[in-house]
Amino acid sequence: MGWGAFIMIGKINHIAIVVPDIERSARKYHDVLGAKISSPIKLAEHGVRVIFVDLENSKIELMEPLGTDSPIAKFLQKNPLGGMHHICFEVKNIKEVILHLQKEGAGIIGDGEPKIGAHGLPVIFLYPKDFDGVLIELEEVRD
Ligand code: CO
Repeated sequence: MGWGAFIMIGKINHIAIVVPDIERSARKYHDVLGAKISSPIKLAEHGVRVIFVDLENSKIELMEPLGTDSPIAKFLQKNPLGGMHHICFEVKNIKEVILHLQKEGAGIIGDGEPKIGAHGLPVIFLYPKDFDGVLIELEEVRD
């Protein structure tokens, strides 16, 4: 692994937090922390409802399970109070990123192909076991 000028991940696009009651959580961010929040958004194909907390330099996505087979239902069972679920970094070219990850031996969750994420952009997820227990999402963002 080199430590030179090579840069692959850019900005933090969002930090995702799974919560048991999204309205209640959003109210706290708004009333207690004085943050700007969005209306709830239902993402049926991803099995979640989300509310965005808009920050000056990034955003937080509060996520609540939608439906019994939600991909985050198990996380909430293990963490009934809620908890940080993943951190998402922006990348420029996800195909190149995947080639680099394969070269470095970092595993991509699933079949190794990018999926269309909650923002309609290609994403991949990396195994928490490879990154200090943190689930990392990489999202291709075109400028
Ligand atoms: Co995400």
